[in-house]
Amino acid sequence: MSLIARLEEIVGHPDSTARLNEILENLELYIEAHFEYEESIMRRVGFPCVDEHSKQHQDMRQHLRSLSALAGGGFAVPPEHAIQLVEGWLNWHLDGADRRLSDFLKERRIDLSKFV
Ligand SMILES: [Fe+2]
Repeated sequence: MSLIARLEEIVGHPDSTARLNEILENLELYIEAHFEYEESIMRRVGFPCVDEHSKQHQDMRQHLRSLSALAGGGFAVPPEHAIQLVEGWLNWHLDGADRRLSDFLKERRIDLSKFV
């Protein structure tokens, strides 16, 4: 089950704050691993927009940390707020920065299997 689906599942659940903490922790781990992988590739292939792209990642890291701090501090963060933040940011980032990176890699016929 995707993390977004897990977030949607806890909307309105009486135990949503505790569950949200767990989901946010998993989301931070997943996103950090993904961002590190992407940033490593961008540096290794000389992607020209690496700073702008990494800044977007950094902003999302900060958003998630803030959300986790609120939820971890006992603040009742509505799961809908987390969904809106994560889904909205992901769609925006995938359609923009990630697409530009993907196009760059395709144009140069860069084989990502070399970077695993
Ligand atoms: Fe990215």
